[in-house]
Amino acid sequence: MEQINIGMIGGGTVGSGVFRALEKNSALMTARLGVKLKVAKVAVKAFDEPRPYKIPVATMTTDWTTVVNDPKIQVVIELMGGTGLAKTVVLAALKLGKPVITANKALISKCGPELFAAAAKNNTNLYYEASVAGGIPIIKTIREALVGNRFTQIYGIVNGTCNYILTRMKNERAEFAEILGDAQKLGYAEAEPSLDVDGYDAMHKTHILASLAHGFWVDEKKILVEGIRSISQTDIQFAEKLGYTIKQLGIVKAAGAGKSEKVQISVYPALIPQQHVLANVNDVFNAVFVRGDIVGDTLYYGRGAGKDATASAVLGDIADAATDLVNGTPRRVPAFVDYGRRASVMPASESV
Ligand code: HSE
Repeated sequence: MEQINIGMIGGGTVGSGVFRALEKNSALMTARLGVKLKVAKVAVKAFDEPRPYKIPVATMTTDWTTVVNDPKIQVVIELMGGTGLAKTVVLAALKLGKPVITANKALISKCGPELFAAAAKNNTNLYYEASVAGGIPIIKTIREALVGNRFTQIYGIVNGTCNYILTRMKNERAEFAEILGDAQKLGYAEAEPSLDVDGYDAMHKTHILASLAHGFWVDEKKILVEGIRSISQTDIQFAEKLGYTIKQLGIVKAAGAGKSEKVQISVYPALIPQQHVLANVNDVFNAVFVRGDIVGDTLYYGRGAGKDATASAVLGDIADAATDLVNGTPRRVPAFVDYGRRASVMPASESV
């Protein structure tokens, strides 16, 4: 039976989570897919950096180039984060024709067109299920399962850290700053947590969903972004008295048709009626509502951050990359298709 050798760049919270998840379930995946999967090398920042699960020392290196350039490594997983070196790593692997898997929403949001073009040029693929909503398979849902639909609305809770903070502010009457440290300890927050609390992480994810759903790459600057940093106990309690819960939402709306179609993308803390399903999505959970013109309303729910939820999404991408390699069809499903629609992006001040 064929074995696919995987190289991982990043061996921290998510990286060690993926390593351990594959150790746990690789036999099951082999039985299902008919291919063996092995993480052969892991590039780490430091051998002794804190990580929730152990990675064997013999597997680790501090030189990422020896992973990407190793001819035995067939699939590269980028889990280091950031948009500097991570971009260099991803492009280097794609240029060698190796499929790349990433959980890096900032990188996809900022450099998507360039990365997808590099993948297509080198007849390989870039997989990014783990970049949006953790364990919820929302990329595949929009790209594949609902491919026959026009999307008029996509909205939901896409940042686990903010939802965890807002939930505890409501339940424990604690202030924002007291809880952020716990979200970091639990491995939910970004290395730079301002990305979470100032709304940029949710913006990256909402941007990716919008671009995927509407077939053109939106300019990040056209997206309204508002974080939760200024939400106080007073806001939480007033909202509650009025029958609402505050949740940070990523929202993609489309209006009009044909040439006059407009798409509006925004991220902000919103007042949700307490009986609404999204008001009851708590802690690190995410939920995404998708309205398609054929299917109607659909809703997806699951853990949106943390090592295991993210690892689950990465395992799904490993399965796709490995299956594509074995079948010799490296672009079974193109990661992103710009199908030439040029709907304009509507300012957040206009109502849809
Ligand atoms: N910091 C992110 C979140 C991690 O809290 O949702 C998962 O993308």
